[in-house]
Order: sequence, then structure tokens, then C-alpha cells
Amino acid sequence: MESLDDAGVYKLSDNLAIIQTIDFFTPIVDDPYDFGQIAVANALSDVYAMGGKPLTAMNVVCFPTKKLDISILKDILKGGIDKMKEAGVTLVGGHSIDDAELKYGLSVTGTVHPERLVTNSGAKAGDKLILTKPLGTGIISTALKAGKVSKETVAKMTKYMAALNKKASELMQEAGVHACTDITGFGFLGHTCQLARSSQVGIKINSSSVPVFTEVEDFARAGLCPGGLHRNREFYGKMVEFSKKIPDYIQDILFDPQTSGGLLIVLAPEAAEPLVKKLHKAGVQDAAIVGEAISKPLGEIIVE
Ligand code: CO
Ligand code: CO
Ligand code: CO
Repeated sequence: MESLDDAGVYKLSDNLAIIQTIDFFTPIVDDPYDFGQIAVANALSDVYAMGGKPLTAMNVVCFPTKKLDISILKDILKGGIDKMKEAGVTLVGGHSIDDAELKYGLSVTGTVHPERLVTNSGAKAGDKLILTKPLGTGIISTALKAGKVSKETVAKMTKYMAALNKKASELMQEAGVHACTDITGFGFLGHTCQLARSSQVGIKINSSSVPVFTEVEDFARAGLCPGGLHRNREFYGKMVEFSKKIPDYIQDILFDPQTSGGLLIVLAPEAAEPLVKKLHKAGVQDAAIVGEAISKPLGEIIVE
């Protein structure tokens, strides 16, 4: 827990460890089926980030039975089950309570060979960083609540959030990954800071190569930022040095809390370009090299 890794890991024997994680949250899209899909992709992501194989899951449900029709819950759970099937995960139970606000998510158990566990502490100076999904889901969700987002953009964002990080996880392991984490609530720079600290390296980010949803820039310029973004900026901002040419709204996007974001993969420089090509071929079409690990300043991020 000290290294702020994505999930808990418990070694059962010399060749088997279990990975455990739990994630649940309030809806970020209106469609219940889509929300179920996203919640599952998001909950499984921590297992994929650690190089594990998710096996079983349990539903965590808070539902306002007096406010909402039960068919909404059925659709959420259906979306969840379909996504679990796609991932090869078996639903083994769950727990639900009556609550004022709807929440859904899962606890997930996976396995990994203890020697092949991927943590956020293995980055070395000279390594390259790859990000596999575009940023901006927090900002778009905020704009959505304000009624400012087109149907097409919602559909596009939903597709990305519902996409499993499974393929990216398998390919990064074949490529000899050194470290990994997934981008979620602390935003791209928050999770990058955690990885830099755990790995005892600095990190240099090339902001123009970071994949971002095209629609996000306008919303960010208009100041449509979720509360979590400001908390991320306040907390992690001290560890980040921005070059003067980076406008404020780009800084916001880099701190935007993500739901079911991509993997941040760290690996040897010569392995980076071949992995990006394989990711693109496998349908992870936005994967890009976004920066590199450097020896100094330790635990800090430079954004150019
Ligand atoms: Co995580
Ligand atoms: Co998590
Ligand atoms: Co019981």
C-alpha cells in the first residue's frame, strides 16, 4: 500500500499470487447498460495494470429503490455481465443496499506469477512511457452534466471507457514492461507522479504527444472542469514543472481525473516503438509514446 500500487497482491505459493481490487462509483453516462460496461472495464483495469489475469468478480450495488425503476438496475447489471464475459471473468456474487444515490462497481480477484508481477516501481532512467487511451473523460462528463456534449462525443467517450485494458496488458508483458499503472482518478500527471516516486526517477513528458479527445480542448478552455481536477492540481502540482509555453487549459487536461483510463506503460527505449506498433495493430489505436524516465529531479515531473 505504501507504493500506491493499483491493487493488493498476496502470494499463495512460489508460483501463484492473487491480486485483489475494488472500484465503484456514481454513473458518468446516462445509459444504464453503458454504465455497467464502463464500471466493469474500470474495475478490471487495476488487475491488468499489474500484469494479472482477472478471474472472478463480485457486484457492489447501491440503488435508490424509491427513486428509480428496478429495470435500470437490471440494465446496469446486464452491461456488467456482458463485459465480464468479454474479459473471461466469472461473476461469483455481490452485495446490494438501498441508498440515496446510485452506485455500481465490483471487487475483482485475479492471479499472477509472483515473478511476473508488474508494479509502479520498476521504471529506470532512459525508459520510455506509453499511454494507451486519450485523456479528457472527466472534463467531458462535466460538460455532459451541463448539457453541452453532442451524442457523437458521448458515444465515442463511452466506447473508450468501456474498452478493456486486456490487450494492452498482454502486449506490454510480451514486450518486457518495467512498470505500469492505469490512469484513473488522480489524472495523468497524478498517476505519473506516483510512478516517479515509487520508481525513484524523474519523468519528462512531451505534452504535444499525449493523446487527448479532440472535443476536450474547447470544454477545458471554457473552464468545464470537475472538482477532482482542481484537487489533483493542488496536490500533485507541487511535483510538476510546466514549461512556460504550456497553456493553463492543457495543464487542466493533464490533471483531469479519468474513468477507466488507459495504461501508462514504462519499458526500455528500444522496445517502445515496436510495442506502439503492436498496440495499434491490436486496435489500441491511440497508444503513443508520451515521455521518458530521467535520473533527476527525483520523483518530479517536467512537462514540455
Ligand atoms: Co489503478
Ligand atoms: Co482502482
Ligand atoms: Co453474506
